[in-house]
Amino acid sequence: MNYTVTKIQPFGALIEPKNADTSVDDLSIPELRELFNEHHILLLRGFKGVTNGDELVNFSERWGEVSVWPFGKILELVEQDKPKDHIFDNTYVPMHWDGMYRPEVPEIQIFHCVQAPGTQNGGRTVFSNTPEVIRRASEEDRQKWSQVVGHYERKMEFYDSKTIAPLVTEHPNRKLPVIRYCEPPVHEDEDFLNHPNMHFEGVEKSELGDFLKNLQKKLYADEVTYAHDWETGDLVISDNYTLLHGREAFTSGAGRHLRRVQVLGTPKLVNPHLVSHA
Ligand SMILES: [Fe+2]
Repeated sequence: MNYTVTKIQPFGALIEPKNADTSVDDLSIPELRELFNEHHILLLRGFKGVTNGDELVNFSERWGEVSVWPFGKILELVEQDKPKDHIFDNTYVPMHWDGMYRPEVPEIQIFHCVQAPGTQNGGRTVFSNTPEVIRRASEEDRQKWSQVVGHYERKMEFYDSKTIAPLVTEHPNRKLPVIRYCEPPVHEDEDFLNHPNMHFEGVEKSELGDFLKNLQKKLYADEVTYAHDWETGDLVISDNYTLLHGREAFTSGAGRHLRRVQVLGTPKLVNPHLVSHA
């Protein structure tokens, strides 16, 4: 092998080249696939070969078919001057799974950090390992969670969609329960742009506040959460079928710039929870 593997706590694997000249083109995707299946997050740090959008897409296409959006294959995650949506603001992004509002749900996200926001400026991407959340939960929590269904509606530049998803559902390829959930935004004021609408069935209205608070605590517990502190040049490959992810707020003007590509599963996962899409 031309790289080393170091386990990340509490989950994930750091992949680094043994030789500084090694490019991502020299890496075996089947080998990385095995590591990905085991660890759910791969952090490739120190490799050559991905410096621009085209190279990122070329690398991503070695993993499978890349999802095409109205804007193309790459989402430029960068703070905008006058954002119309929280994604392009510097505020936090609640936990969610990618593709929840799209006709196909990608299996993998590949992120390239074009420019890190710098230490002390926040902006970590936070991943929650949902099978672990379920495994660690009390029988009572598991029982409650299994009865809850989330109804979500979100309109933004690229879609206007409605999605209904059980909180606990089965992983598309494995006999494994996972959580599909979009966390209600904490900032219900003008700080948080264009928040989605949602409600939950299967839990009494009077209990909803405590229910969501408990779920939030379990999703963000240190033992199941990996918050990635970006360094310029990082490539992060994450498992969207298994994990939920969100973003911490960051300092406005810090220059945080990530590129994100989504890779569809084989076969493609037609979104089983999408009710309407425009
Ligand atoms: Fe996302």
